[in-house]
Amino acid sequence: MTTIRDIAKHVGQEVKIGGWLYNKRSSGKIQFLQLRDGTGFIQGVLVKKQVAPEIWEDAKRLTQESSVYVWGTVRSDERSATGYELDVTKLEVIQIADDYPISNKEHGIEFLMDHRHLWIRSRKQHAVLTIRAEVIRAIQNYLDTNGFSLIDPPVLTPSSCEGTTDLFHTKYFDEDAYLSQSGQLYMEAAAMAMNKVYSFGPTFRAEKSKTRRHLIEFWMIEPEMAFVEHEENLEIQEQMLTAVVKQVITNCKQELAILGRDLTKLENIEGPFPRITYDEAVAFLQKEGFPEFKWGDDFGSPHETLIANSYEKPVFITHFPTELKSFYMKPDPNRPEVCLSADLIAPEGYGEIIGSSQRIDDPILLEERYEAHDLPREAYQWYLELRKYGTVPHSGFGIGLERAVAWICGLEHVRETIPFPRMLNRMYP
Ligand code: 4AD
Ligand code: MG
Repeated sequence: MTTIRDIAKHVGQEVKIGGWLYNKRSSGKIQFLQLRDGTGFIQGVLVKKQVAPEIWEDAKRLTQESSVYVWGTVRSDERSATGYELDVTKLEVIQIADDYPISNKEHGIEFLMDHRHLWIRSRKQHAVLTIRAEVIRAIQNYLDTNGFSLIDPPVLTPSSCEGTTDLFHTKYFDEDAYLSQSGQLYMEAAAMAMNKVYSFGPTFRAEKSKTRRHLIEFWMIEPEMAFVEHEENLEIQEQMLTAVVKQVITNCKQELAILGRDLTKLENIEGPFPRITYDEAVAFLQKEGFPEFKWGDDFGSPHETLIANSYEKPVFITHFPTELKSFYMKPDPNRPEVCLSADLIAPEGYGEIIGSSQRIDDPILLEERYEAHDLPREAYQWYLELRKYGTVPHSGFGIGLERAVAWICGLEHVRETIPFPRMLNRMYP
C-alpha cells in the first residue's frame, strides 16, 4: 500500500491507498473525494463514465470519515494545494461512518475539546501534531548529535523538585509518592555518571492556573551538563533552538502553511539571542507601564509579553533574585542575592519556553539552601550526596515542549499542541 506522504514518487503509476473520506463534492458526472490517510491529504477524482457502476454508487454512499481502500493513478496537478490528484479506478468500502459530529462548520472550543479524539483528524490539528513530532525529532537530533545521552528519570518520586505546592500526591504501597514535576535532580546524578545527558518525559504540575500556557500534564526535555557553566548553558540553548526552528521550517512547510504561520518571524530565529538581566527587566517594566512592579516580584504573562515585544528573537532574562527561584540554583558568587539562572522568553507573547540555571556545586552551600527551603532531608539524601563525591560545576535547562510548539505553530493556546490535554477543568477524553 502507498501512503499519501510518498505520493510524489508514484506519478503516473497505479497505487492503493487506505484512508478516510474527509469531504466530498459532486457535479453529477464527476465525484471529488477529499481523502486523508493520516500521512497527508489528496483529492480523488471519480469519473462516472470511466468506472464500474457499483464503484460509482459506493462512492456516492460515502459519508464523512467513512473508511475506504482506493485504487487510482497518481497525476501531478498544479492547481491542487498538495500538488497531486488521484484518478480513482476502484474503491472498496471498509465502513460507512455514522453521522460525524464534527462538520466543516465552526464549532465552539468546548465542543471540539469534548471530541478531541476525533478533532485530531482535522487538517489543522493534524498539522500541529505533525509539527510537534518534528520538534521532538529536531530536539533529539540536536542533542543526540552533540554528545548527549538519553536518560530516563523516574515518574514516581518520593520528593518534589520545583516546590511543594503543586505536587500530585499518590500512594506507593504504604509510602507517599508524587508524580514527577521535573527529572532534573536525577539528571544531575546522571550527568556525574555520563557527562552530557537529557531526559524526555511527562511532567505533572497540580497548578491551579487556568491560562493559555498552562497544562497539568506536559512534556519536558531536560538536558544536564557536567563542567558547563552559566554562559555556555545559554549558548547551547540558543544553538539547539536555532537548529530546531530551522529543521521545522525545512521539513514542515505545508503544515506551517495550513496553520497560516508567518514564516518571516521564524526565519529570523538565529542565535545569539539577546540577554537582559532581571534588574534591567524590572527597570524596563517600571518605565513602560508597570510602575508598581517591585524588585523581587515574579513576572506574569503581561510582563513577559511586554519584554518580548521589544525583540524579534527569543530573549534571555538572567540573574533572577535567588529567593524567587528553586533551592538548587547557584547564587552569583559576585552578588549572591541573584542566581545564575535564565528564563528564555519566546517572541510574540508566547512566554517562557525554557527555564535554566547553573546548579549549586558546593556541598555546604547546598545544605544551607536546603535548610532555608525547609525541605525533607530523608528523601533528598542521595541528592546531597552527589556533592560529596567529586562535585563539579554543572548546568542544565528544561524546555516545555507544548510551549515551544505553540510558539512555532503560532497557536493561541497550548491545549492544541498536545494530543489529549490535561487541564484544570478537563481530563476527558
Ligand atoms: O521553569 P521550569 O519549572 O523548570 C524546571 O522544571 C527545571 N527543573 C528545568 C531544568 O532546569 N531542568 O519548567 C521548564 C519549562 C518552562 O520554561 C515551560 O516551558 C514549561 O517547562 N512549563 C510548562 N508548560 C506547560 N504547562 C505548565 N504548567 C508548565 N510549567 C512549566
Ligand atoms: Mg520557570
